[in-house]
Amino acid sequence: LTGSAQRYDTIGTGYAQRRREDPRLRRAIEDALVGATSVVNVGAGAGSYEPADVRLIPIEPSGVMVRQRSRDARPAVRAVAAALPLPDACVEAAMTVLSLHHWEPHQREGVAELCRVARRKVVIVTIDPAVSASMWLLADYLPEVAEMEHRIFPPPRTICSWIDRDCAVRVVPVPRDTPDEMLLSFWAHPERVADASARAATSGFARQPTEVVERVVRAVEEDLQSGAWERRHGHLRQLAEYDAGLRLIDATLAPR
Ligand SMILES: C[S@@+](CC[C@H](N)C(=O)[O-])C[C@H]1O[C@@H](n2cnc3c(N)ncnc32)[C@H](O)[C@@H]1O
Repeated sequence: LTGSAQRYDTIGTGYAQRRREDPRLRRAIEDALVGATSVVNVGAGAGSYEPADVRLIPIEPSGVMVRQRSRDARPAVRAVAAALPLPDACVEAAMTVLSLHHWEPHQREGVAELCRVARRKVVIVTIDPAVSASMWLLADYLPEVAEMEHRIFPPPRTICSWIDRDCAVRVVPVPRDTPDEMLLSFWAHPERVADASARAATSGFARQPTEVVERVVRAVEEDLQSGAWERRHGHLRQLAEYDAGLRLIDATLAPR
């Protein structure tokens, strides 16, 4: 396992504490899986969002992430998306949650693998980089991450064109109180920018050089102190959820 597949051996420490499952995102995934009884979860990480009571095959390249799986989670197969060690059409559904952007330069091959192993459904949770770029953190403070997201997140419609089957793109608003503290969750928590362990649990911050991170922390702290952040973005404090760019691609390969 080389390159991007090893990234989480460096940045994955502490992931399971800050990136706990969000019940609303779980529900959206379960709705899309509609009763599938066998599921492969690619980029399974510490096991969030894995459906219960199904024959589950978690696929995960990083040892650091595999070690954060709970004792009752299914053991993960150590492999990468672009070469799943599974036969054709061996499960009803394939899912992947916030992992596809790490598969470069083999994202299209990885999506083809999801379609090869699944008979009925492919469910992909990803980010629309055109939408996430307009969130205050990326727009005002972190253009480096907006630029990176444009590079590593294929637009959802592009992913659908790779699947080339009946495909819906659903908006998944990010709740203010989500326990899955992904970078998008910072929309509601500017104070979180100053928290090193919160930053470390997001690959957006974790992939930036120290100088960039220090610059952003300083700028956000200054703007919070001076009231500039409140003046520009204080209206967000009233919202319970926000479209920060999270998307669920729900592809039907064959009818039930
Ligand atoms: C942001 S984490 C998401 C983990 C989990 N799906 C969740 O929602 O909590 C991304 C995961 O993708 C895995 N990953 C990175 N490159 C991969 C690849 N080429 N194939 C499969 N998984 C990969 C990482 O090791 C990491 O566990």
